[in-house]
Amino acid sequence: MFTRSRCRAWGAASFAAVLGIAAQFPAQAAAPAAPAGLATCVACHGTQGQGSAAGVPRLAGQNAQYLENALAMFKTGKRSNPVMQPIAAGLDDAAMHALATYFAGLQGVALAPAAPPPADLVRAGEELARVGAVSDPTPPCFSCHGADSRAANPHFPAIEGQPAAFTVDRLHEFQARARAKAPDPATMTAVAARLNETQIRQVAAYLSTLKPAP
Ligand code: HEC
Ligand code: HEC
Repeated sequence: MFTRSRCRAWGAASFAAVLGIAAQFPAQAAAPAAPAGLATCVACHGTQGQGSAAGVPRLAGQNAQYLENALAMFKTGKRSNPVMQPIAAGLDDAAMHALATYFAGLQGVALAPAAPPPADLVRAGEELARVGAVSDPTPPCFSCHGADSRAANPHFPAIEGQPAAFTVDRLHEFQARARAKAPDPATMTAVAARLNETQIRQVAAYLSTLKPAP
C-alpha cells in the first residue's frame, strides 16, 4: 500500500541521496511502529512530534529517558501540568516506555515555523545560551544541554527548537520550585532561579529559532 509514511520515506531517501548520505538512509527508513495511544498525543504534539508554536513541546528526537521520566512525573504529580497530568494518569509503564521511545526515534523533525522573534531578543538569548551571564553568574545553557550534537550530552533534555512559550513556562516552573525549596547547586532549578524575566524571554526566543541538533 502506498501510504503517506511511504511518501515521506521516499522524500527522505531522495534528499539523503542528494546530500550523498544515502548510506545513512536504512536507519531512517525503519520507522518505528506506531504505539497504542499515539493518536491522542499527535493531536497536540503534531503528527511528527514537532510541537506547536502555541507552546506544546517538540517531542521528536528528545532524549527517550527524559520523555519517559517526564510522563512518570506527570502521573505522580511531581511535575504539575493541568493538560498532561490527566493524560499521563491513563498510561501504564509499558505505554509510557513505548510512546517515549517512539517520539525519541523521530529524528530531525523541526518545530512548525512561527513568526520570527525580534532579532535583538534572539542575539541576547544566544549569548546567554552559549556564553552565559557575568552578572548574577549564570552558566551557559549549552554547557549542560549541548547545542550542536545530542550525542555530546545524552543525559540532559534537548532545549533547542522548542516553542518559546513552552521554554518560558518551564523556566517559570523551575523558579517556582526554587521559591518553594532552596535548590541544590548546579541543578536546573538553581540555574532558573538566577534568571530575570528579560533573560527568560531572550533565551526562549533564541532557542525557538534553532533546528534540533542531530
Ligand atoms: C491537549 C494537548 C496535549 C495532548 C493530547 C498531549 N500533550 Fe503532552 N504536552 C502538552 C503540553 C501543553 C505540554 C507542556 C507541559 C509543561 O509545560 O509542562 C506537554 C508536555 C509533554 C511532555 C514533556 C516534554 C518535555 O520536554 O518536557 C511529554 C513527554 C508529553 N507531553 C508526552 C505526551 C504523550 C506521550 C501524549 C499522548 C499520550 C501527550 N503528550 C498528549 C499537550 C498535550
Ligand atoms: C548545570 C546544568 C544545567 C545548566 C547550566 C542549564 N540546565 Fe536546563 N536543565 C538541566 C537539567 C538536569 C534539566 C532536567 C531537569 C528536570 O527535568 O527536572 C534541565 C531542564 C531544562 C528545561 C526543561 C526541558 C524540557 O523539555 O522539559 C529547560 C527549558 C531548560 N533546562 C532550559 C535551560 C536554559 C534556558 C539554560 C540557560 C539559561 C539552562 N537550561 C541551563 C541542566 C542544566
